[in-house]
Amino acid sequence: PIKLIMDTDPGIDDAAAITIALNHPDLELQLLTAVAGNVTVDKTTLNALKLVRFFNSNVPVAEGAAQPLIKPFEDAARIHGESGMPGYDFPTDLPKPLPMTAVEALRDTLLAAPEPLTLVPTGSYTNIGLLLKTYPEVIPHIKRIVAMGGALGKGNMTSAAEFNVFTDPHAAAIMYASGIPITMVGLDVTMKALLTSATMQTLPTLGRTGTMLHALFTHYGDGDQTGVPMHDVNTLFYLLHPEAFTTEAMWIDIQTDGPAIGETVGDIRGAYHDGRTNANVCVDIDAPAFNQWFLTTVAAIS
Ligand code: BDR
Ligand code: CA
Repeated sequence: PIKLIMDTDPGIDDAAAITIALNHPDLELQLLTAVAGNVTVDKTTLNALKLVRFFNSNVPVAEGAAQPLIKPFEDAARIHGESGMPGYDFPTDLPKPLPMTAVEALRDTLLAAPEPLTLVPTGSYTNIGLLLKTYPEVIPHIKRIVAMGGALGKGNMTSAAEFNVFTDPHAAAIMYASGIPITMVGLDVTMKALLTSATMQTLPTLGRTGTMLHALFTHYGDGDQTGVPMHDVNTLFYLLHPEAFTTEAMWIDIQTDGPAIGETVGDIRGAYHDGRTNANVCVDIDAPAFNQWFLTTVAAIS
């Protein structure tokens, strides 16, 4: 199995990704860290704990940054609801988060692991930026980063910027400058791999996990009649099925100012960075394969 850490802001699509990370036999989740993003960090931490409790898992949860590094915080409650995970009554006897911040928990987990771990950020990258700047000794302990965020094409917050990178562009700039191998799973693929209405209708027939996810998805403000994006889930699909993706190596720069703040600028001609690359960017995805994998995966989780 792939040993990974997820840094998340649940969030409805994050909830689906966490569900899979906690249960997939080919994934071994070591730690869940929460960050401010879709909703405030007290809520994203609580939501992570609700999922851990729902699956009776003992994966530790740590609460992270409440604010982006520099930019003022703006949530996405209009898409994910006030709680960030509306529509389902989770148990209320929740485990406690770790008695340390996400940055400390990330450092301890990475340094204690016998082999480098895969890091999967599906929220803004504030915790990751803080970690890399505060404890650069962790860098060789991170095998790779597979991050949801960014877009070569148009954004979903502004014309240029995708939400996770827009929320904390300065943290994104630190992450992309780290030298760690990065796969960018951005809107170029997540807006193609939409869950179809047939997939949506099948979900509630798939036991308590499908029922729970379907309840959350009914309250999700993203998507339309053409389908529902599962942005964060695409990171795990990539980890397990890279053959379903087309990727291109290039240099990604992050705009930290001005009208394109939060844009991930891909040096697609290799002209600006002399052909050097700092990321593998997902540019295409097999959407039917994603739908099928999603249903099979959820069906297998009790
Ligand atoms: C990203 O923004 C968040 O609202 C989603 O959870 C996802 O991580 C998509 O742009
Ligand atoms: Ca997210």
